[in-house]
This record gives sequence, C-alpha cells and structure tokens, in this order.
Amino acid sequence: MNKALRKAIIAGNWKMNKTRPEAKELIEALKPLVKDASCEVVACVPFTNLETVLAAAEGSNIKVGAQNCHFETSGAFTGEISADMLKEMGVEYVIIGHSERRQYFGETDETVNKRLKAALNAGLKVILCVGEMLADRENGITAELVALQTKIALKDVSAEELKNVVIAYEPVWAIGTGKTATAQQANEVCAIIRGVIESLYGKAAADGITVQYGGSMNAKNAEELVAQPDVDGGLIGGASLKAEDFSVIVKAASNG
Ligand code: 13P
Repeated sequence: MNKALRKAIIAGNWKMNKTRPEAKELIEALKPLVKDASCEVVACVPFTNLETVLAAAEGSNIKVGAQNCHFETSGAFTGEISADMLKEMGVEYVIIGHSERRQYFGETDETVNKRLKAALNAGLKVILCVGEMLADRENGITAELVALQTKIALKDVSAEELKNVVIAYEPVWAIGTGKTATAQQANEVCAIIRGVIESLYGKAAADGITVQYGGSMNAKNAEELVAQPDVDGGLIGGASLKAEDFSVIVKAASNG
C-alpha cells in the first residue's frame, strides 16, 4: 500500500470542551503553529463554537468540523442539528459514530449509517469512527467487529460518495485512558479496515481512503503511530485541546 496515494489528516475532537472565547483563543494559538502543515488539519468543535471557530479559522489551513448530525434534514427532533444546517454554516467535516455516542447516546450501526448518508447527501465530509471494546479484543473478535461496523456504516454508500469518507479506528479501551494501542496494533486494524474497503469498493478505493488512528494519541507517541504504513493521521481528543501538543502531532503527520 502506498501512503503517498492518500492524504494524512490530523483532526482534533474537542468533545464537550471550550466556551466561545476559549475556542477562539485555541484557534488563534494554533494558526501560526500549523500554517506550514503538509497534512490536512481539522478542528471538530461543539455546535456552539462552530460560528466562532469558522470565523477564527477563515483564511487559514484549519478546516472546521462538527461532532455529530441528525439523519433527517429538518423536523420535530428536539435538541438535534441537521447536516444541512452544518453545511449552510460552512462546516466541512462531521464526526459520525464516535464510540461515546454509541456508548452514552444509544447510537447503533444502523443510525450511524443513516447519519453518515445524511451528511454525505448534504455535501459534508465524514469522519466515521469504528473500534472495539476491551472485552471484544480479549475475546479475539476485533477484526470481525470492526469489519461489521464498517460494512453497516457504509451500506448504500457509492464509490463516488466514499471519496468524502475518512475512517477513524478508535479502540474504545484507548480513548481518554492514556492507554494507546501499540503502533503495530493500530496499523493492524487500520489495515483490516482498508481490506474491508477493498472487498467492498476495490483496490483503488482502498489505496485512496484515509484511515486514521485515535485513542490517547499525543505529542510523544504520534510520530511512531503516523509512520505506520496503514495509519494516515489521527483523531485526537485530549491532546487537541492544547495548541502546542496538537501542533507537534500535526508536524509528525506532515513528516510521516
Ligand atoms: P483521546 O485522544 O482523549 O484518547 O480521545 C480520542 C478520541 O476519542 C478522539 O475522537
């Protein structure tokens, strides 16, 4: 597999952090630090910060994403935000199927598929998250589970639409725990995901799709992770909240 065929993306998932002034401050601090990045740089921020961050990032190389969207375009869905609403604001990316949404908000593989299709229909780029729980890994079903999540999420998605999908492999046991997957473990599952894409869409699609790793990636371990042949960048939680740390990860992916 040739890494040069696809782009590395370093995306920050701010989760439920930062008020608007704090968000502006973080983007302003980040801009000069990542301006020469050769990888793509994305900040996925809370809905309430989108307008602030879009304005702060304007004219820079920082792209802006949301962390979820609903599958209907509008209607009686109290508390939800549609993909069209995000697109109209100028948002470019949306995270779909994060394990925290699956764990705490009843997200299923089927609703992930519905949200993903709605996002693509609206013209957004999707960062689709898949990953196993610790018990799944201990039971030896990581490969099957991640393949299943990937296949269901991409049901009825065309090869053309797939060009706007990035997949993030995030082992749930590594998220926010300080327990990173080893570079070998990360690469192994990213390669499995690429294999699933090849079986569904063919070799060119598999070679072209960006597959990120996420889970306790930080300024210290990023270089080894992003250097792996099947790891095309990362989805960063905690370390994306500090400009300096995030920029070190961006630099690692720019070199790798
Ligand atoms: P941490 O980097 O905090 O482990 O979070 C990873 C993550 O869930 C990114 O989506």
